[in-house]
Amino acid sequence: MGKQLTANSVDKYVLYQRAVQSAEPDVEFLFNTYREIRGKEPRHFREDFCGTCLLSAYWVKQGKDFTTESYDIDPEPLAWGKENNLKSLGKDAERVVQYQEDARNPSRKAPDVRCAQNFSYWVFKTRPEMLAYFKSVYEDLADDGIFICDLHGGPESIQELEEETEVDDESFTYVWDQDSINPITGEARLHIHFRFPDGSELKDAFTYEWRLWGLPELKEVLEEAGFGQVDCYWEGTDEDGESGNGEFTKSTEGEACLSYVAYLVAAK
Ligand SMILES: C[S@@+](CC[C@H](N)C(=O)[O-])C[C@H]1O[C@@H](n2cnc3c(N)ncnc32)[C@H](O)[C@@H]1O
Repeated sequence: MGKQLTANSVDKYVLYQRAVQSAEPDVEFLFNTYREIRGKEPRHFREDFCGTCLLSAYWVKQGKDFTTESYDIDPEPLAWGKENNLKSLGKDAERVVQYQEDARNPSRKAPDVRCAQNFSYWVFKTRPEMLAYFKSVYEDLADDGIFICDLHGGPESIQELEEETEVDDESFTYVWDQDSINPITGEARLHIHFRFPDGSELKDAFTYEWRLWGLPELKEVLEEAGFGQVDCYWEGTDEDGESGNGEFTKSTEGEACLSYVAYLVAAK
């Protein structure tokens, strides 16, 4: 990233995208999963909790008839995304339509693929609230549409801890801070901090108030919302057998690892 970063010189959205998001493989996964299930290609995509619309930007790059609707309630990341992720797309950017709206609002056009990434839908803290969101997704999809959401779990995900990851050849450290977790309600306060080689820190760059949900319960709530087929896509392991290889396949048996990320894929 060029010269040495410090807390005063950085843009938190740039750091977030570099540390947290992998838009290209994510879009590939969304596209391929739809094709595998439906035997044809998707075209219209909806990105819920889109933040800076990074996935939407990659989606429309796939071709002239690829379109998106991108929903977020916060105007700040939407404006940042327009300037930094969409502008450079030129005319293609016209096919990304941002809505500063709640993710439960209906789409203008029924999506083939709709997603909620990076656990953002955990903002819905009760079962009735989550069920209402999933029902609104079900009713909103195209007849052969699919919904994909990610989730994380494992014993480390329910502990109060900080996890540090070096990013971009140690030009900064991404810190995932599981600050406080209430095991009775499942509610958690989580932060992202960024630390820099000069010792400076961008503390609480992002804060989330979520409920920690379990995989089987989310699967059941999706089924209750009406989805006829709900599958877990579990990550494969590297040759060393210890770390994830970034490839997610439909599975009914997973390993009890300390921490994992998985997808639920729900088809109408
Ligand atoms: C963790 S960020 C996700 C950013 C990006 N989509 C990603 O995958 O990394 C969560 C986003 O959800 C948005 N958000 C929270 N509640 C929402 C709601 N009810 N409807 C729409 N967006 C919401 C926040 O404004 C924030 O931008």
